[in-house]
Parts: sequence; structure tokens; C-alpha cells
Amino acid sequence: MVGNAPSGSLVGVIGGGTMGAGIAQLAVQAGHAVAVYDALDGAAARAVDGIAKRLDSLAAKGKLGSEEAEAAKARLTVADSLTALKDAVLVVEAVIEDLAVKQNLFAELEDVVGAACALATNTSSLSISAIAGGMRDPWRLVGMHFFNPAPLMPLVEIVEGVATDPACRDAVSGYAEAWGKTTVRCRSTPGFIVNRVARPYYAEALRAYEEQTADFATIDAVLRESGGFKMGPFELMDMIGLDVNLAVSTSVWEATGYDPRYAPAWTQKEHVAAKRLGRKSGRGFYDYAEGAAKPAP
Ligand code: NAI
Repeated sequence: MVGNAPSGSLVGVIGGGTMGAGIAQLAVQAGHAVAVYDALDGAAARAVDGIAKRLDSLAAKGKLGSEEAEAAKARLTVADSLTALKDAVLVVEAVIEDLAVKQNLFAELEDVVGAACALATNTSSLSISAIAGGMRDPWRLVGMHFFNPAPLMPLVEIVEGVATDPACRDAVSGYAEAWGKTTVRCRSTPGFIVNRVARPYYAEALRAYEEQTADFATIDAVLRESGGFKMGPFELMDMIGLDVNLAVSTSVWEATGYDPRYAPAWTQKEHVAAKRLGRKSGRGFYDYAEGAAKPAP
């Protein structure tokens, strides 16, 4: 029976990229032992190192006790294989936004973990029902959609597929709430709530830019300074990762039967093809080479 286990118990995080590292930090700060697994050599170790640095920096700023930071670092490990997650009470998957990759991963994972382990995916836009479609026990899978940066953003969407068991959903929601998040329940429809509503923010900004209404830095400045948004659409795409944002655009577009309102923009595709992925690659719409963001030439 899937339920909520106390802090101290093991949480597995699969994928040590932007989101996986943030989720692992949250779980370890909430008192869990956390093991991070990544298929790419060295990626989980880099995630663990990055989290340790962030914990040290929080301690240096007085936002976290230094003993607490040391204890959290001691609870954080690199998993060399999925088998290392076998005693986990919760596994959160945060690998690339690709249906087949996620399906294969959960099909493998359900044979590794125990019956009481809750299984969650951080997908931004893929159908929970479709990811679970590759599983023997599809009722075990729940969408646990964090926002970037996961340690700071308050909301988590708890997403149900057609087969999701309410007890699993409640267990996953219980973990998010125990970690200090606000949860909202929703059904697995294209983009869920936030990404569905946010798609036009990116799409219309990209159209305005392609029509040369204004340059992207001006569009960002207008939305940020006069529109009341915390970040302009191009700054936000750079932070999310243009590859991740394009995958979400494409998946919502496909899932809505190719509704032209959601069609990915040429500019997005060109940037991804050129590996201008945003902050994580050092350059997206803006250039981050010297620390401060400047519009890229
Ligand atoms: P990322 O590209 O930063 O990291 C993905 C990681 O997954 C990489 O380290 C990669 O080596 C690893 N990986 C790929 N295939 C794997 C496999 N089969 N097994 C284990 N590890 C594997 O991506 P990011 O941004 O962290 O996104 C991860 C997930 O979170 C995606 O589903 C994305 O849609 C979702 N998401 C992303 C947000 C964002 O703002 N970047 C916000 C909310 C959700």
C-alpha cells in the first residue's frame, strides 16, 4: 500500500539536470535520504556537488544552520544504477521530455522498487496516462510537476492519468506538502494548468519578435516592467532551457491535434538546432558568458 513515509526514508531522483537537482535539494532539506541517478556519466555527481555548494551557500548566508547543511549533505548520494533506489519510498523522475524514454524508465523501475513506493514524474506536458501505458501497474504513476527553480517556486501540480490510484495521488501530494509546497490537483490534459495557459505567452512573444514588432529585449522589458510579470518571455525561455521549452510546445501542439495556436516557432527550433539552449549552455536569446545577461548577437 502506497502511503507517506517519514522524513529520513529514501527518496530517489532520476535525472540530475536542472529540475532533478532542485527536487533532490528540496527532498534532502526536508530530511530525506536522497539518491540521484542519471544515465549520463558524471551527471549525478555534478548534481550532488551543485546541491552541496548551494547548501553551503545557504549556511553562509545564515538561511540554514551549518549542522543542518552538513547533515543534509551526508544524506545525499549518487546512485550508480536504478537498483540503488530499491528501498525508496518515493521516486521522482526528471529526465528529458521524451515519452519513450520515460515509458521505458518506469517499466524498468516498477520491477526494482517495493510495492509501497510512490512513483512520480516531473513531466511538464506529456500525458501521465501515456507514460503509465508502458507499465504493468499504471495506477502507481502520478504527475508531480514542479516549477523552476524547484527549491523556490511554491506550486506543484499533482496530475492524475486515467489509471492513477487516488491513494498514490494523495501520497505524492502529501510529500510535496511536507516539503512546503502548495499543491493543485489536475487531470492529465495537454500542458496541465500552468503550461497550457503559459503557452500563448511564449508563442505570441515569438510571433511578435519574428514579425519584427520589437527586439526580444524590448519585449521582455515591457512585459517585466509594465506588464507586471517577474520575467519576460525570452528571459524565461532561457531559464527553462530552449530544448525543454520546445519539447513542451511540441507536445502540447501534438496533443491538441496540431492546433495552430500552439505550433512551435521557427525561432525556437533554430535556437535548439544551434544549441543555444539558454543559461545552461551559456547562450540562448541572451549571452551569459561573462555572468551578466546581454542580448546575444
Ligand atoms: P535537463 O536537460 O536539465 O536534465 C535532464 C537529465 O536527464 C540529464 O542530466 C540527462 O542526462 C538525464 N537523462 C536523460 N535520459 C535519462 C535516462 N534514461 N535515465 C536517467 N537519466 C536520464 O532537463 P530538465 O530541465 O531538468 O527537465 C527534466 C524534466 O523536468 C523534463 O520532463 C521537463 O519537461 C521537466 N520540467 C522542466 C522544467 C524546466 O524549467 N526546465 C520545469 C518543470 C518540469
